[in-house]
Amino acid sequence: MTGESVTQGCPVTPQGCPVSDRAAAFTPFGDEYQHDPGAALAWAREEEPVFYSPELGYWVVTRYEDVKAVFRDNITFSPSIALEKITPTITEADEVLRSYGYAMNRTLVNEDEPEHMPRRRVLMEPFTAPALVEREDMVRRMAREAVDAFVDDGEVDLVTEMLYQVPLTVAMRFLGVPEEDIGPLKEYSVAHTVNTWGRPKPEEQVRVAHAVGNFWQYAGHVLDKIRQDPSGPGWMQYSVRRQAEHPDVVTDSYLHSIMMAGIVAAHETTAHAAANAVKLLLERRERWEELCAHPALIPNAVEECLRHSGSVAAWRRVATTDTEVGGVPIAEGAKLLIVQATANRDPRHFEDAERFDPRRESAGEHLTFGYGAHQCMGKNLARMELQIFLQELTTRLPHLELVEQDFQYVPNTSFRGPEHLRVRWDPARNPERHDPQVLNVRHPVTIGEPSKHAISRAMTVTHVERVAERVVRIRLEEPDGKPLPAWTSGAHIDVDCVDGDEVLTRQFSLCGPAEDHHAYEIGVLLETDSRGGSRWVHENAVEGATFHVRGPRNHFRLDADAERLVLVAGGIGITPVLAHADRAKSMGLDYEIHYAGRAAEHMAFLDRLRSDHGDRLHTYASAEGHRLDLARVLADVRAGTQVYACGPDRMVQALEELAESWPEPGALHVEHFSSALGALDPSIEHAFDVVLSDSGLTLRVPPDKTVLHTLREHNIDIQSDCEEGLCGSCEAPVLAGDVDHRDVVLGRGDRAAHSRMMTCCSRAHGDRLVLQL
Ligand code: FES
Repeated sequence: MTGESVTQGCPVTPQGCPVSDRAAAFTPFGDEYQHDPGAALAWAREEEPVFYSPELGYWVVTRYEDVKAVFRDNITFSPSIALEKITPTITEADEVLRSYGYAMNRTLVNEDEPEHMPRRRVLMEPFTAPALVEREDMVRRMAREAVDAFVDDGEVDLVTEMLYQVPLTVAMRFLGVPEEDIGPLKEYSVAHTVNTWGRPKPEEQVRVAHAVGNFWQYAGHVLDKIRQDPSGPGWMQYSVRRQAEHPDVVTDSYLHSIMMAGIVAAHETTAHAAANAVKLLLERRERWEELCAHPALIPNAVEECLRHSGSVAAWRRVATTDTEVGGVPIAEGAKLLIVQATANRDPRHFEDAERFDPRRESAGEHLTFGYGAHQCMGKNLARMELQIFLQELTTRLPHLELVEQDFQYVPNTSFRGPEHLRVRWDPARNPERHDPQVLNVRHPVTIGEPSKHAISRAMTVTHVERVAERVVRIRLEEPDGKPLPAWTSGAHIDVDCVDGDEVLTRQFSLCGPAEDHHAYEIGVLLETDSRGGSRWVHENAVEGATFHVRGPRNHFRLDADAERLVLVAGGIGITPVLAHADRAKSMGLDYEIHYAGRAAEHMAFLDRLRSDHGDRLHTYASAEGHRLDLARVLADVRAGTQVYACGPDRMVQALEELAESWPEPGALHVEHFSSALGALDPSIEHAFDVVLSDSGLTLRVPPDKTVLHTLREHNIDIQSDCEEGLCGSCEAPVLAGDVDHRDVVLGRGDRAAHSRMMTCCSRAHGDRLVLQL
């Protein structure tokens, strides 16, 4: 590292410079990062997940959990530098900006607590789902008119004619900006992006500064107009009205800054996201055709586009104290570039993360909108626009194809989308020429979580085989033989068991060879007290039958860094354990399997286990007087040992008791497939308050609603997956109160500490909980 490139936060130690060659060579302003930032930093995510970039003077964070943790803690990792120029400007450019009275200050994206949340709360209402529903017709009309203008032309630049223009007009209407001055906004917005997140050369900086200065004055001029008549439906009119009620919260300088930043935030990101989505889909023709054939997939496909190829590649934070990220020490004042584009393709979080799969159930867990207190307020407006654009294009131009072209991007760290997207089609084949009714079809827009049933995959049962008393192995394949999303051991699929109008969804672990990308295999026990799921599967699993399947998902991942693995299975709990054993063997890990059952004929997959795992396998058949003594086989759980178990409740309870004396608190991993603990019976519940410390809100949770539901009703973003207390994705930190835990995620120690809770099912024993949200 040269003396010139040493900047604040540079981690030079007495031993020398720890920056690796690849880290030193990293630039976000080159072609590789601009074209695909997720791929450009894949090496870092695997080898050096938090590294120092001398080019930027920033720590670069690339893994999903680390990026999310930084977003989550907006006190330790302040957003105050989010709009700071990443490239320091020359004096002349600074003087130009000053000459325009440029005074960009705090906005919703770069302010700290305690100011941020009160402002967010005061200004939030127009972004809520009920308020957005009223914008749907406007967005549809604009998208329709845009396509009307070119539908007979046969070739167009979609960005210029639709995907930039419509989000811009929608954004202006949403903000309440008069449309007569829209003209120069594109130039202004690009200048703002280059000025804040780009690397303009000194000679460029003066031109950019003039455009940014003009943009600042333009924003002030628009704001003055709005002040004269703040009665309109726009967000800025709403903000001016709220200023009258809360002058100390919504100040004049604040309004001017959010006027300018809001114009960029409201349309650039959506325009780029739309262009990325159409490009991504047309490059994967079969996916585009899948959406044309199944428009109900579009809401989830939008989430998957945002995950795989989102428009916000990276964001910034600064450490307010000495801390660490992903085990790397970070000094107070150090700056962080947190790269959502790489995190969104982290295989530790997303199964088969590089694959684009519009049926991916966890697609909505992407970090493109950020996470936590600063999550993008306009996310649902963006989602609505993207869904409507894809509906309009797949309905009216299903034969659209990409023209061969070089894609250009504005070089910068954070916003990504092609400047042009040329597409062509044969107008003679436009469906509306042959059937004008296609123009009357209206597909619903989903604001919030896409429907899970819409993303089911119809799979064919290709093989059924009895592998033990009451246990069948079932092989499922795509009807057209296409490859399936890959999975890792511990993953399961959801199977919809359809009986008339009733749909029971049941989870089954994948237990076939993970390297077989053309089939999923499950083992299913016919439960004697079946609630309908296993009986349905046994009755319907005949070769040629169709099963509706979602996933795979994985809440039971194997720690491949463990020194030793102890795998414990009881009965049909062998299915995920078998997959873990196969993986442990293929990776050359030290493992042992303890498999208990009633009798050998009831124990599925014994032959395969014996032949594939030899003396790693220990079996216990109780009818033969050979019981699994957990205390004995787990007597020497040392640091570095991880225990994975799946089996009946009493076995799990016994393991939890033993785990209390193990040296590492998180060494026990248990797979659960159902939990009756979280079932809500309003007749026996009581209402209680949740106080949100970061938001300054107090919400009442009624007896018939979950904490998760109540939070979402008040626009507090929180992720969820299973909503049954099984997966841990809806976790919230608890600062005070006695939690009535009803999940199966937390172990005994965690429960007793009352420091976190699963909001989808757990409640309060008393009247009040304080959550760090
Ligand atoms: Fe899975 Fe709450 S959403 S535990």
